Amino acid sequence: MNKPGNLFKVSAMASLFITLFLSACNKTDPEKIFLNEQLTSEAIGELAPAMMKNLHEKVDSEGYAGAVTFCNIFSPKHGKQKNQEILEKFKSTYGVEEFSIRRISLKNRNPKAVGDNATTDILQNWEDQLTENAGTPVDLKTKTYYSNGYYTTLKPIRIPGKFCQGCHGSIEERDPMAYEKIRQLYPDDKAIDYNVGDLRGAFVVKIKYAK
Ligand code: HEC
Repeated sequence: MNKPGNLFKVSAMASLFITLFLSACNKTDPEKIFLNEQLTSEAIGELAPAMMKNLHEKVDSEGYAGAVTFCNIFSPKHGKQKNQEILEKFKSTYGVEEFSIRRISLKNRNPKAVGDNATTDILQNWEDQLTENAGTPVDLKTKTYYSNGYYTTLKPIRIPGKFCQGCHGSIEERDPMAYEKIRQLYPDDKAIDYNVGDLRGAFVVKIKYAK
């Protein structure tokens, strides 16, 4: 007969097994961390240079105000299309099942460009590093973590030069016409008052592998 004590032991054993099983499933594979960072660099390489080139051309030909539409319409569309292309490529080459690349910021312009708790913590940690070492150059390190079947890599986006400030700088640096348009499109915009070298946000690449 099952005494209550035995029953307790059985259920304690069962919960131990469940815990062990779950922690085994949630184990981080160092090779995947490495691969994820490689694929992140590859994905950014496919996406960012073309976007930057187009943005510069737009600003040159139509000014900052004309280029706002590019950032507002073209770049999310281009991002979506590239997302799909990169997934197809990684699927066949690296056994990737799910792939996504997006941008987040602590001071976002697009209302959707916000992180969850884990990614926001990483952004905040980078921001703290910059504050603590103000005046000295700081190399912010790419971060990767594993959770619930997904490897997530964050790469910092910093303001590389004065060019960005036409749309992301202080009131003196911003293009007034461009910013009027931006305000209309993004009434809750927070993405201003940046200086060269500041942390603007991050690329976030989230990947699920077949095995
Ligand atoms: C012509 C104006 C313009 C210029 C120049 C510009 N941006 Fe932006 N930026 C925008 C707009 C508009 C958005 C919102 C795009 C969207 O809806 O996804 C944006 C969004 C972003 C985001 C995504 C996060 C967020 O807050 O929505 C990042 C990161 C970013 N910009 C970085 C930069 C950097 C770095 C530069 C300089 C290399 C730059 N931008 C130059 C207008 C501009």
